[in-house]
Amino acid sequence: MAEKLKILIDTDPGLGARNTDVDDGIAILLALASPELEVAGVTTVGGNVPRDIGSLNILRLLRRIGRKDIPFAPGSAEPVGGVDTKLEDKWRGVEVPSPTEEEKEALLRIKAGNGTAVDFILRSIEAFGDGLTLVALGPLTNLGLAAAQAPELFGRVRQIVIMGGSARSGNVSATAEFNLWCDPEAADVVFRSGIQVVMFGLDITTRIEVVPQVIAGWSEAGGFLRFLQEASVDYMHFRSQRYGRKHPFMYYHDAMPVAWLADPLLFDTVPCWVDVEKTGRYTRGMTVVDQDGRFHGGSTPHRLASEIRSEAFQELLLGRIQDTYRGID
Ligand code: BDR
Ligand code: CA
Repeated sequence: MAEKLKILIDTDPGLGARNTDVDDGIAILLALASPELEVAGVTTVGGNVPRDIGSLNILRLLRRIGRKDIPFAPGSAEPVGGVDTKLEDKWRGVEVPSPTEEEKEALLRIKAGNGTAVDFILRSIEAFGDGLTLVALGPLTNLGLAAAQAPELFGRVRQIVIMGGSARSGNVSATAEFNLWCDPEAADVVFRSGIQVVMFGLDITTRIEVVPQVIAGWSEAGGFLRFLQEASVDYMHFRSQRYGRKHPFMYYHDAMPVAWLADPLLFDTVPCWVDVEKTGRYTRGMTVVDQDGRFHGGSTPHRLASEIRSEAFQELLLGRIQDTYRGID
């Protein structure tokens, strides 16, 4: 088998807390279930949930699936440009069982051992250089800070693959997607870092609506898979109430870039040039996507996921999760 692709996942994982997005957790589970990928580490960032809740969720998730060997480092609690009141609103609905004393100590130990996410990202690049792919599933705060702190070192990374942005409309405002909207300042640094960004925006990630029936099989399997199914369905109901949808559903957003890394044939990508809107009164956080580069004077393009083979994607995702985690309590 070909050498595994080394990836570092930067994430704002909600799975484990109620009333927030579960797709980061599903993406991490897929990465750990994919023989083509080697997860060199996980870093957390405030986004779907505050940073500390995300770190607790990761601790619990990795322990539960028996992957304590995956190193993780807690990242930035706040976006470079500060926390918007809309983000505080999102965080207000989130509920998580409080950490036990043992979990609190474990988190402190991990922080002391691995340092901050920015340290951890830079150390990983030092260790693996262009053998390392950064996968960002949340706001780009940690990556932006790492790129600003050590631009040359950061420039050695192989590629950056993100769930974020949109070539058309947004989901937080008419123009902005959540991850980009949370921290446009950091995103701007990342898109200008000289490293190619492969962008999985809303255009592609909203092509598949996941409804409860699709993952009903997880419930029948019991144990951890039932927990995953229940958390997902809970979230679908929460979303449909909050956004006034007729039926409960969610998107697999963050699982898509991971699936592409595992099997690039699942998606097509096209060149694109991206500017991040930082100051627009109505457009802050928008990714301004130029698909023919006429306005970017010959600079190296990023890439935009443009097509998905939906059935094959779902087969890979559902199959690998079911096969790998069945039997875990
Ligand atoms: C993105 O924001 C969060 O809701 C999801 O986890 C995903 O990363 C979608 O806009
Ligand atoms: Ca996310």
